Amino acid sequence: MSQPLIEAFGGRETIGRVIDRFGAYVEADPVMRAIYPEDMGPGQEKVKLFFEQWMGGGPVYSQQYGHPRLRRRHFPFVIDDLAVGRWLRYMRQAMVDEGVPDEVQRVIFEAFGPLARHMANAGEDVPREPLGDVVLQ
Ligand code: HEM
Repeated sequence: MSQPLIEAFGGRETIGRVIDRFGAYVEADPVMRAIYPEDMGPGQEKVKLFFEQWMGGGPVYSQQYGHPRLRRRHFPFVIDDLAVGRWLRYMRQAMVDEGVPDEVQRVIFEAFGPLARHMANAGEDVPREPLGDVVLQ
């Protein structure tokens, strides 16, 4: 792919729409909904910023919240294999819905597959308290 990933994806606006749709799929699935906090808004905004950064759109996420430490940040939420599978399915479906090109999805899910499996923590003796946000100045 010759253009930056974020441009091939459709830019920030497309990231916003994909994460909103992903959120709607989670809301409609009682198993997934139970994992997420009551107010999904702030978390969804962080995921948008993280995706922008991950796709090369600039380090706003890390400027605001520090190193992603993704596995650690997920410890307060018990994530099992079922949740991993649904996360990937809903994220994929949201990208299909929003018309993200197939070859871009392929690149993304080659990375997201292992990353999502790495997030599984059910049955592990990990600290369950939130990491807490250090908002960098
Ligand atoms: C595998 C299944 C996954 C589940 C069930 C899951 C669930 C969650 C939950 C419950 C939150 C907290 C939302 C909130 O505080 O409102 C969260 C946050 C987040 N997730 Fe996931 N997640 C998964 C995988 C992933 C993957 C693969 C990525 C990256 C590609 C990711 C990126 C994020 C980010 C960036 C945040 C915000 C973290 C922060 O700054 O606090 N998640 N996720």
